Amino acid sequence: MFESIERLPDDPILGLSAACKLDPNPDKVDVTIGVYMDESGLTPVFEAVQRAQQMITEEEVSKVYMPPVGDADFNRGMQDLLLGAANPALVDSRVACIQTPGGCGALRLGAELIKAANPAARVWLSDPTWTNHIPLLGSVGLEIKSYRYYGAASHAVDFDGMMADLAQVQAGDVVLLHGCCHNPCGADLSQQQWLAVAELAQRNGFTPFVDFAYQGLGDGLEEDAFGVRQLVHSVPEVIVAASCSKNLGLYRERTGAVVFIAADGERAEAIQSQATVAARRIYSMPPAHGALLAGRVLTDAALGQLWREELLQMCNRINDLRTLLVDRLSAASGRDFGFIQQQRGMFSFLGISPGQVEELRQKHSVYMLGSSRINVAGINQHNVDYFAEALARVL
Ligand code: LMR
Repeated sequence: MFESIERLPDDPILGLSAACKLDPNPDKVDVTIGVYMDESGLTPVFEAVQRAQQMITEEEVSKVYMPPVGDADFNRGMQDLLLGAANPALVDSRVACIQTPGGCGALRLGAELIKAANPAARVWLSDPTWTNHIPLLGSVGLEIKSYRYYGAASHAVDFDGMMADLAQVQAGDVVLLHGCCHNPCGADLSQQQWLAVAELAQRNGFTPFVDFAYQGLGDGLEEDAFGVRQLVHSVPEVIVAASCSKNLGLYRERTGAVVFIAADGERAEAIQSQATVAARRIYSMPPAHGALLAGRVLTDAALGQLWREELLQMCNRINDLRTLLVDRLSAASGRDFGFIQQQRGMFSFLGISPGQVEELRQKHSVYMLGSSRINVAGINQHNVDYFAEALARVL
């Protein structure tokens, strides 16, 4: 049966991260995969999560299945976090929330529902976008289109290009937007730009699908939710795919949620039933551990407060690293990298060629994606000068 099966190339992100782990050079720098690293290069467990884990371990008496819709506390906590507890969509009970295996599971379930509701829907992705968006959304059989987003010369959002492309999107189509901390470019929409996108969605009748994997790592939990909440305010139907990998550090626990904001309560119930049946078809029910931890942190006042403080520290440190990086890169190379400071979240493009990226890897053991996307959170006080000097050498 498998004679004709061919080996596929490594994943563009996971493959490089694995290659870096095997590199024996003690000076190697890993800015490949989007995980937060502290000054010692460790991806820490939040203190609030550790405390929740202790409580849950003491209380747990069974490992019986989760319901397909997931944990009720988790789902409630996630909806409040994403939309704000007083959001009229929640008050009017027109929101369906399903716990998923990570943000990928949320994107996939969202795509399943789009396919079920409108098989002819085209899904518009930003150019560039996260490399896994195309297989995740395309594999359910939806047509994928792209809209202009990042101007390589300006190192900023090409908003005129974006709006010109989105003006062509038809009613019934879906536009995937990055809620904050754009992956891979780090260039986010301003509040004014979000208002304009929401107004266009309302006028043209397309459905926004927001990938919201980095809430709290741009400017703060509430600030980062501006775009999502504006869309929910302006447009009757919105889909949000959320992840607890980064902002709760639950990467390996595969903890996420897909949230559908529907026109009314009856539609929300119908969507929820479709999504749970789709989940049953693909993986039956979600994993428990991460959602129990996140649910506890999100719904316990003291743990929630501790987590918010820890997350804010993480967010501030990433933004400080952006400043540090700009200083050191500019000093070492004589070039202006000031754009990195304007961007948010874990990622930015350095704007160097694939050949220079390769040279950095081969000669200096500095690992970044071929597009020159770096994970700013992989930089620290110990490796920043080595990184800057290596970059200056290949420029
Ligand atoms: C990334 O973009 O590096 C992260 O979202 C991790 C992943 O799964 O690709």
